[in-house]
Amino acid sequence: MIIIIIKFIHYLAIVFSGGVLVGSGLIQSVYNKENKVPDITISKILKILGFIGLVSLIVLWISGIILSNLIYGGFVINSAFTLKLVAAAFLLILSFFLNLHVYNSSKKNLPPNKKIVKISTMSARTLIIVVLISAAVAFN
Ligand code: HEM
Repeated sequence: MIIIIIKFIHYLAIVFSGGVLVGSGLIQSVYNKENKVPDITISKILKILGFIGLVSLIVLWISGIILSNLIYGGFVINSAFTLKLVAAAFLLILSFFLNLHVYNSSKKNLPPNKKIVKISTMSARTLIIVVLISAAVAFN
């Protein structure tokens, strides 16, 4: 029963982290295409979405660590799982630093650096695809 509950939490966090990535990516690309900078309200929404993304990644790590130990007795499962861990670690670090950057710039009343945001969202998309493919391979 406990494994089912933790798995459900893991899946829920996947939905949240993916949803945030798609949603904030869409908002940013629409603004970029129209050559506009998000106003204060949209910036606030993007900031909250970024924070939800970070929280869901932390939940993914906590639930993932518990699942690995309960189901497989540790982290040595197979190489696809190792790749999943490495990509998930990069994703967590990326999300942490992007949140930090957005927080620091909003404290200085400045918009976040466009290049940093763009490179981070592009890398995050790639990393989440790598995590999902390696999860599919690892647990097939
Ligand atoms: C971005 C972060 C992550 C994503 C998108 C993700 C995605 C997934 C997906 C899609 C599954 C379902 C695979 C299946 O049951 O066939 C899964 C299961 C699992 N994940 Fe993650 N995961 C992430 C992070 C982690 C981390 C950090 C760990 C471990 C420290 C972890 C450990 C596990 C384990 C043990 C399972 C269950 C395998 C099983 O059912 O036998 N995950 N994850």
